[in-house]
Amino acid sequence: MNFNTQLQRKLFATVILNVFIAFVIIPFIGYSQQSIKPKPGRLAAIAHFPIGSAVGMRWLERDSVMVSLLKSDFNSITAENCMKPALIHPEQNRFNWTDADKLAEFCEKYNFRLHGHTLIWHSQVPEWMEKFQGDSTAFEAVFKDHIQTVISRYKEQTKSWDVVNEAIADNNGKWRKTFWLERLGKDYIARAFRYAREAAPAVKLFYNDYSLESDSLKRKLALKMVDSFRKQGVPIDGIGLQMHIRVDHPSLKEIEETFTKFAQTGLLIHISELDISFNEFKKEPRFKAFTPEMADRQKQRYEDVVSAYNRIIPKNQQYGITIWGFADKYNWIRPFFKQPDWPVVYDDSLQRKPAWYGFSNGLTK
Ligand code: G3I
Repeated sequence: MNFNTQLQRKLFATVILNVFIAFVIIPFIGYSQQSIKPKPGRLAAIAHFPIGSAVGMRWLERDSVMVSLLKSDFNSITAENCMKPALIHPEQNRFNWTDADKLAEFCEKYNFRLHGHTLIWHSQVPEWMEKFQGDSTAFEAVFKDHIQTVISRYKEQTKSWDVVNEAIADNNGKWRKTFWLERLGKDYIARAFRYAREAAPAVKLFYNDYSLESDSLKRKLALKMVDSFRKQGVPIDGIGLQMHIRVDHPSLKEIEETFTKFAQTGLLIHISELDISFNEFKKEPRFKAFTPEMADRQKQRYEDVVSAYNRIIPKNQQYGITIWGFADKYNWIRPFFKQPDWPVVYDDSLQRKPAWYGFSNGLTK
C-alpha cells in the first residue's frame, strides 16, 4: 500500500486505532467486567436446610422474572393466601381449589417442598364460617370437616401445614379471643392437630405465630402449650416462628434466647415468614426512602438472624427459613399498612439487595 502524503498515513493510522479499540479493547473490557460479576449463586444451594418463600398467585402467573428467581434461589414454598379458609372454602358446601391446585402442581413440577398455610386462623375466614348459626356440635363438624377436607386433598403434595395460626393474644399471655375459642373452647387447638393427623398421617403439623421472639408472655404460653401437648399425646411436629421483625427490634440476644428455648422442645423449628422492616407498623413512618446506610444495616441483621438459626437450632430440627415474599415489589407490608418499607432481599427492580448477601453469609456462619 502506497501513502502519497503524510495526511493519508495519519488517516490510515487513525482507522487502525479505531478498529483496534472497537474490536479488541472494548470487548476485552466487557469480558473482564463480566468475569468480576458475582457468579449466580442460589441461597438453597448454599444452605443445608430448605430456603422458602411465600408465593402469591398475583405474581406466580404474571411475573416471569420473579418466577425464575424463585426457581433459582429457593426450594420451598408457602402458600401466601390461596390455601387460607376464605379463599379455599368460600361457601359451606363449596371449596375453591383452583389456585391451590395450581400452586401444588407448580411445586410438583419444579420440585419445591410445599408448606400449607393455614387451616385454622381468625383472619381471612369466610363470612359463612364466622357467622355460622348452629350449636357447638354442628360447629365442631364444620371445624373438623374444613381441616380434614383441605389437608387430605393435598396430603401427597404438602410436606407440612400450619394447622393453627396466631391463637395467642398480644402482650398478655392469654389465648386470643377468636370465634374459634368462643365457640369451641380452648382445647380447639389440640383437637385441630388431632383431626389433621387423622386425615393426613404423614404430614408434619405446625403451630405458627408472630412475635414469639419479642413478646415473652406469648412465648411462654406457646412453650406451655407444646409441653401440655406432649403430656396429652397431641400430635405436633413443629413450631413456626413467623419473625416479621425490624432492623432494630427485638435484640439479637432475645432472638437467640427464643431459638434456644424452642429448640429445647425437640420440635422442628421453621422461621416461617421472615422479613426485616424499618418502620413500625401502623405508626407514622420514620423512614421514607431507602438509603445505603439502611441497606447495610439490614444486611447485617439478615446475617445475624440466619447465622443464629444456623448455629443454635440443631440440624435435625432445622425445618428451614422462609422469607415472606422475597422481593420488596410484592411484599405484604406496603399494601397492608399503606406505608413505605423495604423488608426483603430483592428490591423493586428484582435486583439482589445487600440483604441477600447478608442472608447468604449467615448460611455459612
Ligand atoms: O384478593 C383481593 C383482591 O381481589 C382485591 O382487589 C384486593 C384489594 O385490597 O385485595 C385482595 O386481597 C388481599 C389479599 O392479601 C391478596 O392480595 C387482601 O385485601 C389482603 O388483606 C391480603 O393480605 C394478606 C394478609 O396476610 C391478610 O391478613 C397478605 O397478602 C399476606 O401476606 C398476609 O400474610 C400473613 C400470614 O398469612 C400470617 N402471618 C402474618 C402475615 C402477614 O400479615
